[in-house]
Amino acid sequence: MKRKVTKAVFPVAGLGTRFLPATKSVPKEVLTLVDRPLIQYAIDEARAAGITDFIFVTAKGKSALEDYFDHATDLEAKLEADGKHDLVEALRSSNMESGSIAYIRQHRALGLGHAVGCARRLIGDEPFAVILPDDVIAAEKPCLQQMVEAYAETGGSMVAAMEVSPARASSYGVLDIEDDMGSMVSVKGMVEKPKPGTAPSNLAVIGRYILAPTVLANLDQIVPSAGGELQLTDAIAMEIEQGRGVYGYRFRGERFDCGSKAGFLQATVAFGLAREELREEFQSYLHEIVAMRKAAQ
Ligand code: G1P
Repeated sequence: MKRKVTKAVFPVAGLGTRFLPATKSVPKEVLTLVDRPLIQYAIDEARAAGITDFIFVTAKGKSALEDYFDHATDLEAKLEADGKHDLVEALRSSNMESGSIAYIRQHRALGLGHAVGCARRLIGDEPFAVILPDDVIAAEKPCLQQMVEAYAETGGSMVAAMEVSPARASSYGVLDIEDDMGSMVSVKGMVEKPKPGTAPSNLAVIGRYILAPTVLANLDQIVPSAGGELQLTDAIAMEIEQGRGVYGYRFRGERFDCGSKAGFLQATVAFGLAREELREEFQSYLHEIVAMRKAAQ
C-alpha cells in the first residue's frame, strides 16, 4: 500500500537530562543551533517532504515548545513598522498554519514505541512519518524528502539508515540486511541496541521513519525490550514477520546527534560555517584557535 504521507509525529516528551541544567526550564528541542531551535530544523524538513499535519508527543514541562508555535503578531507588527523586513521574514518562516499542529501528552516515559503509539488516534489508517528532532541532518535535499521519493517506489515501511562503526552499533537500532541495493536495502530483521559484538550489520537506524499504519497495531503487541522500554524498532520488525516490506534508506547528507553535547557542538560549527553572513569571521576564529592549540602542544 503506497499513499501520500501528510502526517508526521515528533516525539518530544524526553527530559533532555544530558543538557541539564539548561533543560531545567528549556525543553531540549528549543535549544538553538545558530539562531533556530532544533525543532525548527525538523519542521522545515517535514514541510519540504510535503507534511501538512504535525503531531507533537509532549510531556509535562514542555510548554515553551508549545508556545514556540504561537504567532508573534505584535512583534511582527513592530518589526514591520521599524522596517526590519529580514527579521519579519525570519519570524514568519516559523509560523505554522492554524489547525496544522496537535499536541498529545505522553503521560509516562515508557519509550519511543509508546510515544509514537500515543498519536495513533490522530494518525488513523494511513502511512505516517516520524521525525526525531535530536537527529539533525544537513543535506542538499532534505532527508525526509529523499525518503518520500524512495517510498513512492517501495511502499511498506522505511527507516533512514547510516553506517556506524561496530563499536557504536550498540547505541542504535541496527538492520539485518536481506538485499543491499545501494541507496536502498531490504530488511529481514531489526534489533534495538544490540549487545556489543552481536549487531547483525553496521547499518544503523537514524531518526527518520515512514511507517505503515499496521505498525500502530504492532505497538499494542510489543513488550519492553532494550533499556526496559517499549521500542519502535520492535514494532517495525513485526512488520517483517507479518510479511510486509521494511526498507532501510541510505540518505545523502550529514547527520548530527544533537542529543549529545559533542554532536550538538559539531552541528553548531557545521551550521555556523554554512551561514554566509557568519562564515568568514567564524572560520578565521576556528583557524586561529586550532593554530593556538597546536602551538601550545
Ligand atoms: C532511537 C531509536 C534507535 C535509533 C536512534 C537514532 O534511539 O530507538 O533505533 O537508532 O534513535 O538516533 P535513542 O537515541 O532515542 O536511544
